[in-house]
Amino acid sequence: QVADSLYILNNFAQQYFSKTLLEDEEGQTIGLAYLKERGFTDEIIEKFQIGYCKEERTAFVQEALAKQYNRDLLVKSGLAAIRNEELVDNYRGRIIFPVHNTTGKVIGFGARIIKKNDRAPKYINTPENEIYVKSRILYGMYFARQVIDKLDECLLVEGYTDVTSLHQAGVENVVASGGTSLTTDQIRLVKKYTNNLTIVYDGDAAGVKAALRGLDMALEEGLNVKLVLIPDKEDPDSYVKKVGAEAFRQFVADNKKDFILFQVEVSLKDAGNDSQKKAAVVNQIAETLSRINKAEDFTKQQDYIRQCAALLKIEEAGLNNLVNKFIRE
Ligand code: GTP
Ligand code: MN
Ligand code: MN
Ligand code: MN
Ligand code: MN
Repeated sequence: QVADSLYILNNFAQQYFSKTLLEDEEGQTIGLAYLKERGFTDEIIEKFQIGYCKEERTAFVQEALAKQYNRDLLVKSGLAAIRNEELVDNYRGRIIFPVHNTTGKVIGFGARIIKKNDRAPKYINTPENEIYVKSRILYGMYFARQVIDKLDECLLVEGYTDVTSLHQAGVENVVASGGTSLTTDQIRLVKKYTNNLTIVYDGDAAGVKAALRGLDMALEEGLNVKLVLIPDKEDPDSYVKKVGAEAFRQFVADNKKDFILFQVEVSLKDAGNDSQKKAAVVNQIAETLSRINKAEDFTKQQDYIRQCAALLKIEEAGLNNLVNKFIRE
């Protein structure tokens, strides 16, 4: 019941925010101007139903109350919040990215500030409620799933604008995790359409760490994971806009690395000449490789043991024993 009411309210809000962006004076001069400045086309704004929430304290709340939506539901949806006992809009002065479930219903929103500052968060997201369960959501899946199935590959990026920019560039098999590490539910969602996941993150330390955190779980679920790191402080959105669609595709094709082998390289570089640290790396890799077995893919595991042993400069049989030790544990 609550779920149904939330779907209906979100649908109403999405239409209101879209209309505000396209037809309201403030929406046009602030919201639409910002999106145009960033190079987004009318087509992509329409496809992703991007909108704008006015700066006025209660512009949306008043519309919603007039339509008989109740206050508790407005708070639960995250569209409004109570400030000094007054019900006010929660996404004031922000660009609105609706988040859809796989059937295309709006389950929540990501709201981006127009001008970054230290006092307010860059994005505000819908709080957890009956229909918005963060751990199960991949932004963009509704628009990507058929293409993911057709190409048999899913690209994973960090943010909303990475997804929309890549779509605009014709790369449509792409979803976003919201910058956090992947959950089992998100991996299972990907697996409905493909076993091939390519993580496309920015190459800074945080990006790499976030990517690595999802690895073991992805392996347990039997996904083939590849990684592409975007260079020079860019993210997929800024990079595709800088180099163009064709060069972006080429970059991804040329720089796709196997995720496990990437982890070996990174860890080895960290360990340097320290033999204790190197032993720890060998252990870590053995544990990672032991997880492949749970997906019952023996050949894949043996291939990795061979390649990793070569990178680690150790005997294949030794690594094999260590992996088996972890499997028994
Ligand atoms: P743009 O700056 O608009 O291009 O967004 P971005 O996606 O490049 O932002 P960034 O790389 O900083 O963050 C990646 C993703 O993490 C965002 O798309 C959001 O989903 C999430 N995120 C970023 N900042 C915040 C924040 O302040 N609060 C929350 N809850 N999530 C955030
Ligand atoms: Mn398929
Ligand atoms: Mn980053
Ligand atoms: Mn980014
Ligand atoms: Mn960005």
